[in-house]
Amino acid sequence: MARRQTVFVCSQCGRREPKWLGHCPDCAAWDSFTEEVVAAPARRGSGKAEGGGRAAAAPLRLADVTSSAVARFPSGIAELDLVLGGGLVPGSLVLLGGEPGIGKSTLLLQVLDAVAFEREVLLVCGEESPAQVKMRAERVCRRPETIAVLAETELESLLAAVDAQRPALVVVDSVQTLYSDALTSAPGSVSQVREAAGRFQRLAKDTGVAVVLVGHVTKEGALAGPRVLEHVVDTVLQFEGDRQRFYRTLRASKNRFGSTEELGVFEMTEAGLVAVTDPAQLFAGDGRPAAGAATHVAVEGSRCLLVEVQALASRSELAVPRRIATGFDRNRLAMILAVLARHAGLSLSSADIFANIAGGIRIDEPAADLAVAAALASAGRDTPLPPRVALFGEISLTGELRSCSQAGRRVAEAARCGYTRLIVPAADAAAHRGTGVQVDGAADVREALRLAALAGPAGTTSAKSDDGGV
Ligand SMILES: Nc1ncnc2c1ncn2[C@@H]1O[C@H](COP(=O)(O)OP(=O)(O)OP(=O)(O)O)[C@@H](O)[C@H]1O
Ligand SMILES: [Mg+2]
Repeated sequence: MARRQTVFVCSQCGRREPKWLGHCPDCAAWDSFTEEVVAAPARRGSGKAEGGGRAAAAPLRLADVTSSAVARFPSGIAELDLVLGGGLVPGSLVLLGGEPGIGKSTLLLQVLDAVAFEREVLLVCGEESPAQVKMRAERVCRRPETIAVLAETELESLLAAVDAQRPALVVVDSVQTLYSDALTSAPGSVSQVREAAGRFQRLAKDTGVAVVLVGHVTKEGALAGPRVLEHVVDTVLQFEGDRQRFYRTLRASKNRFGSTEELGVFEMTEAGLVAVTDPAQLFAGDGRPAAGAATHVAVEGSRCLLVEVQALASRSELAVPRRIATGFDRNRLAMILAVLARHAGLSLSSADIFANIAGGIRIDEPAADLAVAAALASAGRDTPLPPRVALFGEISLTGELRSCSQAGRRVAEAARCGYTRLIVPAADAAAHRGTGVQVDGAADVREALRLAALAGPAGTTSAKSDDGGV
């Protein structure tokens, strides 16, 4: 087969060169050239168009297009179907990312096992030998013998094999092991990964095969083959979690066929990943009051979760004290600390601050602000919150509490989980009193802290005032 022509393209400015360059003469970027295959011009047109240039592409009316929505098929794992927006879509390309050892191969093997009951499936294993796959399959699958395995990493032969077999679902574990002979760069390089994803995207669209690519996550948390893959694929799933605690969360950071709000929760067991169908209290802690802990009522898609926010303030040895946030945005932490200092008389400016969402889950909604502020105030004043109290509320820069979406659901879920009192924005309180729990509304963060027995004039921050209080 004739070798396909390649070209090196600057990823910053698009300059094309026949050979690799370390430094772009146009935009002066360093190490920005990646290799790409030159696509042969498509030969189109016949009859009238011949000799007279390319035939015009004929548009289609949407009425004549068959929708694949009805053809979605279940992955066999309800949590994954929820995150995908109702199952796998034929002809779609999904990227599943996650840190090493988080359970990507396990999850997808279980999906293949379930789908294989009714449809043909194929596992492309580039990372493990078929024998290793079998070992895992015997542990986690109900019918391991139904799964076809292909140990092939050369892209062209792999695509030919998939095209010939046309299974309903192909899982490629992982996209970083694939290489195209047309490119000179090593497997896992940006060019190779992009080429593999692009070719699988075309194959999926042409044949209707649903393809799931496994992608590794770099230390910085980006999907390797950096973000280049994210816009090539239809759906990007992130598999995250705290490996020590056995819980894993799955969410979509991009989804062309459904919402990106939904969260799937799994537990890693000897027999593989088991869906946690009622995860409401999984991340809530044991409920015993402790200084520096506060409970937030979060909404993740169609679910409500009670989540423990933990904070620690300790005297800093550094000229610029540390601000470490795990599980939520660091800038949000800085903003909340500034609001506490300005509007609630609690300055922790000379303390190192560590704030953490327990259980390895990530919370991005601003409604978590109030619980973070309460955890910080509780840590700063070394005073626990009263027992069985949960909070939610967005804090504005003026210190006021802003109303949150789905307040009613949050109140009801906290009540169901045994919480007896909620501290919420005043705007959300009135509508939800009388639901069996005490709902206290606060107009601003100072009032909310007073309701949580965490107020006090500046300077009375007992033990921790030496560390960070004013
Ligand atoms: N016998 C077992 N019992 C319980 N859990 C196990 C068992 N064997 C493996 N595991 C779990 O499975 C995890 C590995 O899963 P898996 O190989 O699916 O991860 P992965 O994300 O595909 O990793 P990689 O990035 O290395 O391919 C381990 O970290 C461990 O938590
Ligand atoms: Mg794996």
